[in-house]
Amino acid sequence: MIDISLFTITELPFGERRTNFKPDISIYNYLKEDGVRQMVNDHYELLVESNIKEIFPPKGELLEGAKKRSADFFVQRLGGPEYYKMSRGNPMLASRHLPFKITPKTRLVWLDCYRQVLSEMDTVPEELVLNFWRWLDEFSNWMVNDHDQPAFKLGFSI
Ligand code: HEM
Repeated sequence: MIDISLFTITELPFGERRTNFKPDISIYNYLKEDGVRQMVNDHYELLVESNIKEIFPPKGELLEGAKKRSADFFVQRLGGPEYYKMSRGNPMLASRHLPFKITPKTRLVWLDCYRQVLSEMDTVPEELVLNFWRWLDEFSNWMVNDHDQPAFKLGFSI
């Protein structure tokens, strides 16, 4: 179990993105394809129980399809077979996330689910897990495409 406080989250102003950080793909030597698929599976299982579950497909065939597409991407990004390229082409992930409203708070929940999965990963050296986390932390800013609703729009008086 890795200390959860080591998984820090960087909060950038809306629209600001950093892309210079690359994951250390030697994590793939430990995880292999099966480990990456297991990690994505565990993450999605947490997402569909979380308070952002509405943007994900319900459990069943559709959810399994979403897990497959995501896992194909991660396997490829970490140096494994290029399944994603073969089935989906260019990742263009920011565009592919546009149909879903992803606010800074949505991102925090998404990251928190990953934090839970990664903190329990005990087959990989801690520094590699934390390096992978740092990449998720930075890259996830690319997917944020909407502001959180100001309180007055939700009907609260301010
Ligand atoms: C910021 C928080 C994020 C949220 C809330 C989010 C949410 C989603 C949603 C709702 C989908 C569609 C599920 C479906 O296929 O029906 C999706 C697909 C996907 N996401 Fe994310 N995502 C986030 C960040 C990321 C990041 C950082 C990555 C990569 C490192 C990523 C990789 C993918 C991939 C590869 C797909 C499948 C794209 C395809 O259809 O080909 N996501 N995500």
